[in-house]
Amino acid sequence: MGLIVKGGEVVTAAERFFADVRIDGGTITDLGAKLDPRTGDETLDASGHLVLPGFVDPHVHMELPFMGTVSADDFETGTASGIAGGTTTIIDFCIQTPGQPLTSAITQWHAKSAKAVGDYSYHMAITDFGPNTPNEMREVVQKHGITSFKVFMAYKGALMVDDGQLYQVMKTAAEIGAVVTVHAENGDAVFHLQRELLAAGNTGPEYHPVSRPSTVEGEATERALMMARLHGATAYIVHMTCKESMHALERAKLSGQHCYGETCPQYLLLDDSVFTKPDFGGSAYVMSPPIRPRGVGHHEALWAGIQNGLLDSVGTDHCPFTHAQKLAGQGDFTKIPNGAAGVEDRLQLLYTYGVQAGHISLERMVELGATAPARIFGLTGKGSVAVGKDADLVLYSPEGKSTRSAKTHHSRADRSIFEGFEVQGRVAKTIVNGRVAYDGQQLMVTRGSGRFITRKPSHFAAGVKA
Ligand code: URP
Ligand code: ZN
Ligand code: ZN
Repeated sequence: MGLIVKGGEVVTAAERFFADVRIDGGTITDLGAKLDPRTGDETLDASGHLVLPGFVDPHVHMELPFMGTVSADDFETGTASGIAGGTTTIIDFCIQTPGQPLTSAITQWHAKSAKAVGDYSYHMAITDFGPNTPNEMREVVQKHGITSFKVFMAYKGALMVDDGQLYQVMKTAAEIGAVVTVHAENGDAVFHLQRELLAAGNTGPEYHPVSRPSTVEGEATERALMMARLHGATAYIVHMTCKESMHALERAKLSGQHCYGETCPQYLLLDDSVFTKPDFGGSAYVMSPPIRPRGVGHHEALWAGIQNGLLDSVGTDHCPFTHAQKLAGQGDFTKIPNGAAGVEDRLQLLYTYGVQAGHISLERMVELGATAPARIFGLTGKGSVAVGKDADLVLYSPEGKSTRSAKTHHSRADRSIFEGFEVQGRVAKTIVNGRVAYDGQQLMVTRGSGRFITRKPSHFAAGVKA
C-alpha cells in the first residue's frame, strides 16, 4: 500500500514542475504527471501546494551541556519542532568531553538521540586532540558513519582548540576524506575583550557583541581556511555573520580551495539593536558569533552570498535556553548561555524574506535549506524530491500570513528571537519516512521513530594544498 501526493508543484534545487509523487514505504518510487493509484493506495491532495524535500538542518544542538546548563530542547522536542517547521533531518554536534574517547561521546549521544522523531546524524566535535585521536577519527568515519568533525576556535577554557589542535584535526580529516566544520572566532581575543569590558563595569547583554567584534570572526575564518588549505582539508565554516569572514571565504574559494560557508536566518534578519531590549530581554539574543549592526555591510554581504552562491547553506544553530536559564548571566554577560531556538522558523523565514522578497528563487531556497546540506554532508537519501530518495516531503501552502511566536512554536524555548515576524504561507503537511507527521496543526509522531543516518566519506575530499 502506497501513498500518492497528488497535484502539487514539486520544487527541487534545479527546477519546478507539476507532478504526482508516489511513495512506497519510506521511499519515493515514482514521479509523474498523473499517477494512477493502485489498489489500497492512499492519496493526499497537494493541489495549490509546493511539494518540497524535507529540509535538512546541518546545525543544531539538542540537549547540549553548555555554559553550566543544558540546552532546553531534547532530541524529541527539538526534532518535533523541526518537523512542524518542515525540517525532517538534523545534524547535531556530538561533543567530546576533554580526555574522553570519541566513541564514548558517540555512545552518550546515541542514548540521548534515541527519542528523536525525525532523522539525524552528528558532526563529531573534537575538544582535545591526543596521540590516539587520528585513529579514533578514522574509526568515527569508518565504523560509525560520521563523516564530519567540528572544532570550536572560541569558548576558551571549555570547547576551544588551539592552533596546534586545529592543525592536527585538519591534517587527519584531509587524510580520511572528512569535512571539518568550524566555529570561527578568535577565542583568545574574545577572552581578553570580555575581561576588559567586565573590569570597566560593562556587564549587560549589550556588551556581548562588543566582546566579539566582526574582526575576531574574520581573523579566525581566515586562519581556519588557511589551515585547511595547508593540508588540503575540506572546511565548512558554520554560522557566518559578517563581511570579514565572507571575504575570507571568497578568497579561499577563488584560490580553488574546496570549502563551504553557512549562515543562519538570525544573521540575515536581525541586528544588534536587539541586545538593549528591557528587562534583560536582550539576553534571548545572546549567541556566538553575535548578531551584527546594520548599515556597515554585514547583512548586505550575507544576502549577496545567499544570492550568488558564495554561501552554500542556511542552518539554524538551534540551541535554545529559557529565560530562567539566561538569568545566570545577570550582572555578567559572559555567563549568559549562548544560543536560541530556530529549527522551526527557517523555512517560513526563507520563503518570506528570501523568496517573496525577491532575493532568491524557490529552487535556491531548496538548495540552501535541503539539497546542499544533504550533499555536503553525504546524506545521500535526503535533500531532494526524486525517485529513490527518502520519502521526506513538505507540502507548503503559499497562501495566508501568520506571525512567528514562542506561544505557538513547538520548541521548549519560552522566547523566540523571531517573535512578531510576519511570514507568508505555512507548512501544511510534513511527511517523514512516508507518513504524515504534521498536518499543519498537530504533530503525529512516535517517540523514537527518528533514525540515525550513517554517512560515507566524500570521494572528493581533497582541496588545494599550500
Ligand atoms: O551561541 C551559540 N551559537 N550557541 C551554540 C553553540 C555554538 O557556538 O554553535
Ligand atoms: Zn558555534
Ligand atoms: Zn552551533
